[in-house]
Amino acid sequence: MPQDAEFQSCQQRAIHLSIKRSLRLAMLLALASCLWLSTPVSAEDPLRQDALKQFGILEAVREEKLSEPAVLLGQSLFWDQRLSGNGKIACASCHRVEDWGADHKRFSVDARGKDTSRNSQTIFNAVLQPTLRWTGDRKSGAHQAERSLTGSMGFSAAEDVVPLLKKHGYTDGFLRAFPQESDPVSPANYALAVQAYEATLLTPAPIDLYLAGADDALDVKQKDGLKLFLSMGCAGCHKGKLLGGGSFEKFGVVKDYWLATKSENKDVGRFETTKDEADRYKFRVSMLRNIGKTAPYFHDGSVKTLDEAVRIMSSVQLGADLNDDDAAAIVAFLNALTGDVPKNYKKP
Ligand code: HEC
Ligand code: HEC
Repeated sequence: MPQDAEFQSCQQRAIHLSIKRSLRLAMLLALASCLWLSTPVSAEDPLRQDALKQFGILEAVREEKLSEPAVLLGQSLFWDQRLSGNGKIACASCHRVEDWGADHKRFSVDARGKDTSRNSQTIFNAVLQPTLRWTGDRKSGAHQAERSLTGSMGFSAAEDVVPLLKKHGYTDGFLRAFPQESDPVSPANYALAVQAYEATLLTPAPIDLYLAGADDALDVKQKDGLKLFLSMGCAGCHKGKLLGGGSFEKFGVVKDYWLATKSENKDVGRFETTKDEADRYKFRVSMLRNIGKTAPYFHDGSVKTLDEAVRIMSSVQLGADLNDDDAAAIVAFLNALTGDVPKNYKKP
């Protein structure tokens, strides 16, 4: 069929590009457009088919998005240290570019000089999740951002950011982003702009190329790791486009997690908000995109390496002790979930 031939040559061009330059946005887009042209020819690869049933392809953000007024405003707000209780902390202080939008410290220091109660998560891809934070107590990026004002950012009231926004010349940016409002500088619009920015921080990775049909996007070890991830039951919890983020599960299904993580505190997890006994020690199943870059691991950052985190998961969630080869294969697979730092993840 001519369509198939077209897809094949298109796919080959994209794969060729991928071999030459590792991971590039252009090449991802090329592959995505091949998929548009025809159905994948690689339907015969059972591993890909199994993976496609559990996961999904994360697509790159369209370039035009990055210059939308609300996105540009959100980018400025996210990186501006002047917009905090002590004038020294920005969102980006605890969601660091070097740490792929997370923080390599176990706990981060907020604008009141206090440690955060849990480990800072990556902001990349985060707003695709139906709820935010370790216990899912925020319903959207905007909800999270507005609550951050009186939380990490150290204001006594969310409204206290308004005079700072006006003083530092943000009124025009708000007027451009919210043209239908006459007085748009408000905490609610601050939060919407931050959310619009966060929605552009998506990081397609080699796994997406593989799912889209590029056999060479994963090496043999990574494919072994993917097989284990599926057959052992990791994907029973870590599923969807982000490999997690969509549900809550007990941390410590087979045995108490703190015995394995050596955590000082027994965090009750989602019980803290719901007061429902069934939610004790339940946490949001972590999304695993960029996990190779966001150490330390777990809600309290108690575990330093990905190898150890994988072994602990296998043992406390599934009751299986991994041998060295299998642990290494799973880690190799997880590294195929690392994408590029988005090019607008910087101070404007
Ligand atoms: C003092 C450090 C600190 C600052 C400043 C900070 N954050 Fe965070 N952020 C954290 C920590 C810690 C968590 C995890 C909190 C939890 O789940 O209990 C988090 C979680 C998040 C999440 C949820 C991610 C997910 O996967 O659910 C988002 C979104 C987020 N922060 C955005 C922001 C924005 C926007 C700002 C600025 C308004 C901000 N953060 C400022 C430390 C910080
Ligand atoms: C029963 C559900 C479940 C299963 C099965 C499961 N996980 Fe998890 N996973 C979770 C939850 C919940 C968390 C968050 C734990 C926490 O820190 O509170 C998590 C966290 C993780 C983390 C750390 C994430 C971070 O942001 O620090 C990694 C890595 C991970 N899982 C990998 C795996 C692997 C590999 C397997 C299979 C061997 C697996 N998981 C099986 C539920 C599960």
